[in-house]
Amino acid sequence: MFYSDELIEEVRSRNDIVDVIGSYVNLKHKGNSYTACCPFHHEKTPSFHVSRERQMYHCFGCGVGGNVFTFLMEHENYSFPEAVEALAERAGVSLPERTMSKEERKKADERSRIKDMNKVTAGYFHYLLKTEHGSAALSYIKDRGIDDETITKFGLGYSDKYSDDLYKYLRSKGFSDEEMLKAGLIKIDEKYGPSDRFWNRVMYPIIDPNNRVIGFGGRVLGDGLPKYINSQDTPVFDKSRNLYGLNLAKKSKRRGIIFCEGYMDVISMHQAGFDNAVASLGTALTVGQVNLIKRYTDSVYLAYDSDEAGTKAALRALQIMREFEMPARVISLKPYKDPDELIQKEGSEAFERRIDEAVSGIMFEIEILEHNYNQNDPQEKTEFQKEAAKCLSRIIEPLERDNYINSVSEKYNIDSKALKEAVTVYGTNRSDNIDTAVFRQQERRGSPDEEKEKQQLKTERVLITWLINDNELIPLIREKLTPDDFADPVYRSVVQMVYDQYAANSVVQPAVIMNHFQSKEEHEKVSSIIQQDFGVEISASEKSGAITDLVKKIKRKSIQKKIDNAGADLSRLKQLMDEKKAIEKISLLLR
Ligand code: CTP
Ligand code: MN
Repeated sequence: MFYSDELIEEVRSRNDIVDVIGSYVNLKHKGNSYTACCPFHHEKTPSFHVSRERQMYHCFGCGVGGNVFTFLMEHENYSFPEAVEALAERAGVSLPERTMSKEERKKADERSRIKDMNKVTAGYFHYLLKTEHGSAALSYIKDRGIDDETITKFGLGYSDKYSDDLYKYLRSKGFSDEEMLKAGLIKIDEKYGPSDRFWNRVMYPIIDPNNRVIGFGGRVLGDGLPKYINSQDTPVFDKSRNLYGLNLAKKSKRRGIIFCEGYMDVISMHQAGFDNAVASLGTALTVGQVNLIKRYTDSVYLAYDSDEAGTKAALRALQIMREFEMPARVISLKPYKDPDELIQKEGSEAFERRIDEAVSGIMFEIEILEHNYNQNDPQEKTEFQKEAAKCLSRIIEPLERDNYINSVSEKYNIDSKALKEAVTVYGTNRSDNIDTAVFRQQERRGSPDEEKEKQQLKTERVLITWLINDNELIPLIREKLTPDDFADPVYRSVVQMVYDQYAANSVVQPAVIMNHFQSKEEHEKVSSIIQQDFGVEISASEKSGAITDLVKKIKRKSIQKKIDNAGADLSRLKQLMDEKKAIEKISLLLR
């Protein structure tokens, strides 16, 4: 490792895990831990736990876990040293210069070069917009009602009409062809060589919540095609995990976040005072984007285009929001096409009213359903009512469901008792009600040998969990089992550290143990030992029996392995056989 254990420990202890994770995930305080829906897998009920006392996190759903370093490694895709550095900076701990491995250096350099290049590029585009070259683009933007302040706030720019203008500029700033290609700023044609990806377009830099330029969208001036060109995904740009405007919306004082479809919509809304608007980046809404905004808000509005495509996209977005239990309302823009048009034509008060009148996701879905059925045909009308009941049956909270049943029965003139009955029927028959956790638990069964090994690992894991949960067991167990008795190399080191820490301080600090492991696999393995909670109260004699059993199992396996490896050394064999017999006499008496 590049840094000393002491330094790593100092960095860890000065970054409280609840604060660090809390800045990424919306944690809820519950008993002695903090919980949230896991940011590493898709789930509806929170199984992600963070413990302040232990300075560890663990997800019971997908098994990820670790300390504050692991979290950054997983979440930001950092290497261990990068995580240490980020947290050192956060806590103001100064670190000595380290020498990175060649590969690491390359990756880190590449990312920071791309970020630098994007920043230089955004600055250049913005500059061009204000020059003679950008005059047509500037009038285009101004004609669309965008003022100077907004242009600056969003860093809007212009890419020149020469197809190698940016290329030449970046060359002059010392960037290589390869770097520009990686950043998605140029294309290289075998015959014609390098050319800019964006030219003669209004440029929208895409800025992440940490204020770094990660990519660009470019709009044609006027009616040409394609209307937009966007950066491809690069080492710093992942379209599915970022949102246009979030760098500004995250600071908004307004309630909720407004999702819309277009860059122009975001810009228009911000200018009109709706500075909580964001848009996805030329793709449909993704799970990663909802995960991202969960950190900043607990409700959303959809202001999608009012055409058929927009409606479809809104329905799909509602489905995702529902899976995340994110309350969503839908803003109607009719008769206008999109928020930009509504604001240009009717102004911000009108938009504010539309926000007030926004309907909940469920009511929106039922409104859309209504149009699909001919309400004058009794059979179609029944079909519609059934579908509406199915929709309502998805509401889990009984009071909320009742309220919606009443609204729907009133609005569509359906007998409320009949509707309620139908909702109950659909609610109990639903097959997609089955919690995915049930499936998750049905682990794949392996071959008998694999099963045996799994069992052995489980035995070791359970014992170590006991040791960590109840440090007073350590002196007793230490007499019976050495770290070498554990078959698994990771567990062996954990036991060694548990013994060492106990010898030094009479307590075990799980998060410190974690510092010694650097791969994600190891972190997961160790965190699952540390976080396991048996959740049962057992008597002292039951506990003595259970732990004696575990110790015996581990010892038997360990001695058997030594016997297998002893070869023809008879005196050694004899000694091992004696040890083996002695195992059966082990009996621990615990208080
Ligand atoms: N989009 C895209 N590529 C296209 C068309 C659209 O990536 N060829 C994405 C852009 O992110 C755009 C969004 O889809 O902002 C919505 O498209 P659209 O409604 O057509 O554009 P607006 O943002 O409304 O742009 P404008 O008002 O300037 O026409
Ligand atoms: Mn538009």
